[in-house]
Amino acid sequence: MRTYERSKALFERAKGSLAGGVSSEFRKFNQPHALFYTHAQGARIVDADENEFLDFTLSQGPLILGHSHPEVLEKVHQASLEGQLYAAIHLREVELAERVQRIVPCAELVRFSLSGSEADHAALRVARYVTGKQKFIRFEGHYHGWFDNVAWGVGAPSLEAMGARDNPIALPWTGGLPDHSRDESILLPWNDLALVEKTLAARANEVCAIITEPVMCNSGCIEPVPGFLQGLRDLCTKYDIALIFDEVITGFRLSLGGAQAHYGITPDLAVFAKAMANGYPISALVGTKRWMQPIAEGKVVHAGTVNAGNPSVAAAMATLDVLERDQVHVRLHALGNRLKQGLIAAAQAAGQQVLVQSPGPMLHLAFTDLPYARDFRDTLKFDKAKNAKFIYEMQERGVRIIGRGLWYISAAHTEADIDHAVAVAAKVLKQL
Ligand SMILES: Cc1ncc(COP(=O)(O)O)c(C=O)c1O
Repeated sequence: MRTYERSKALFERAKGSLAGGVSSEFRKFNQPHALFYTHAQGARIVDADENEFLDFTLSQGPLILGHSHPEVLEKVHQASLEGQLYAAIHLREVELAERVQRIVPCAELVRFSLSGSEADHAALRVARYVTGKQKFIRFEGHYHGWFDNVAWGVGAPSLEAMGARDNPIALPWTGGLPDHSRDESILLPWNDLALVEKTLAARANEVCAIITEPVMCNSGCIEPVPGFLQGLRDLCTKYDIALIFDEVITGFRLSLGGAQAHYGITPDLAVFAKAMANGYPISALVGTKRWMQPIAEGKVVHAGTVNAGNPSVAAAMATLDVLERDQVHVRLHALGNRLKQGLIAAAQAAGQQVLVQSPGPMLHLAFTDLPYARDFRDTLKFDKAKNAKFIYEMQERGVRIIGRGLWYISAAHTEADIDHAVAVAAKVLKQL
């Protein structure tokens, strides 16, 4: 049995100053309570009670090279010595934009921000401007940051609460939302092209954009069914509305050029963040000239005092250096597949019905007898209590996974790490 007593005491202390004891809502959701960490290196992280974990959370995805990668730290240090922030342009920032242009298919023009939420916000703003229309289509269970107009339809307590498939109820994700923000989006189930077609046939005159995670990673880890992304592409072209890929998770992770390169579907606008700078704060809104031009001309404003700071840009350059030079994605896919096969075999041996879905460098394990999950509604059928027990028992044995069952793989993980995690899972699955 591990103890978490120091974490517990620190969490109690934190609640006296930080609202709820955390700086981001998601950090509360841990068992037996929010944990404090003191240091991390590569694929390993250590908490305040000196419990060491093999880390598959990677800080919710950004740490694609692992914690505190030496090349990233070195470049950040050098850049910080040169200067931090100039309220002006700097050469490294242009070099990064040129590099993103080269790597990402739709990136004819680029703007940097700090977070995925902000960049999504800017993408929707520019889509409204170009089309002169107000509403966007979004999908159940997808997450596009915490701003008002995207905070509807993110989650649901039950299937019943969601309403009919072809006319979903957009439930608020948080208190404090302005009522009118609900009307900015049209909510649909994901992976159902016929419903998108039907909706656009009736309402295209209201719609400025379709925004989608190209792989649904915020609820399960579900790939688009064959033809779905292409279908969205065709519909957006037909009705002259923006196709926005929210690549905050898939970007630089699924492949160097993100999901758009992986699936060969080019959106009009896309948002990148997490894995871009191995944990330093930077995001990118990218798009074709037509959709980015209003930003270039200042007709649509995008701004930010600390955007593209020298250290963050240096971190992104260093991360991309390593990803490209070492062809990291080949390894990430191989490790991801090894993990997937290992977990499936371990579950079979333990007589547990699980569903493992994964396009490679990220993976979701669910307890369910479903052979396949297609959308958010299917994920509501997963056995959450059993998942919580599994996650906790893995943590007790030194393997840290995101509470909703998502595993991220980094370049710092080795085959031995994957095999170790599978061996631990095999034991836990037998005991469950
Ligand atoms: C797909 C997706 N979009 C947007 C965001 C928001 O990004 P950020 O937390 O950087 O604001 C997230 C965060 O998890 C995400 O997963």
